[in-house]
Amino acid sequence: QSDIESKLPLKGKKLLLTAGPTYEAIDPVRFIGNHSSGKMGFAIAKAAANLGAEVFLVSGPSNQHIKHSLVHRINVVSAEEMYKASHKYFGEVDIAILSAAVADYKPKNIATQKIKKKDSSLEIQLTPTKDILASLGAIKKHQFLVGFALETNNELENAKSKLTKKNLDAIVLNSLQDKGAGFATDTNKITIIDKGLNEKSFELKSKTAVAEDIMNEIVKRIS
Ligand code: CTP
Ligand code: CA
Repeated sequence: QSDIESKLPLKGKKLLLTAGPTYEAIDPVRFIGNHSSGKMGFAIAKAAANLGAEVFLVSGPSNQHIKHSLVHRINVVSAEEMYKASHKYFGEVDIAILSAAVADYKPKNIATQKIKKKDSSLEIQLTPTKDILASLGAIKKHQFLVGFALETNNELENAKSKLTKKNLDAIVLNSLQDKGAGFATDTNKITIIDKGLNEKSFELKSKTAVAEDIMNEIVKRIS
């Protein structure tokens, strides 16, 4: 193996990555969203590009920035848009990592005009969004498919059940147990579980270091 190959183990490989939150419109000025910053996903984009991969970064609304000649950013807003963009690139990639915090529900109807306030309570009917990760797992061929799991209880059990149900090659469990891990922070504590149900736990680290750990584990399993 030449020097350049060992430094750029993903040279010539393509990677689909989802990141950030999704926003689900209620009316022209309001939405349902979540606190995902996109930091973890953007850190993975950088780590993957630094290993030589061409990255298609499908990002929900995020104020994160990335400048790398191998990273193409595709901006989306809703879960439906993220679903369409992900399916557009999935066929041509070798690896897909779905780190986005996709809304599980969206308003059943989007009001065309701003909803006026009343004295009575307001009910908004919600309907499930499409599960992007599960939909890719169902059509997966050669792709190495990685999901994330955010759990507050029965972490390992829930993560393993997502891994199996969604037909993944690996899942990254994000531990909220530790303070300093999660949405707004710069650090994360993860456990990676692969298809063989092998578990590998990592220390609390910067999201940059966590992204490198995730990419190294993927490189080990695809080569
Ligand atoms: N995911 C997705 N599309 C959705 C919901 C989730 O692609 N509509 C992906 C996430 O990007 C993540 C994985 O599925 O990689 C798990 O997301 P998570 O919210 O932990 O699990 P859910 O399957 O949505 O179940 P729940 O929220 O009930 O735990
Ligand atoms: Ca969810």
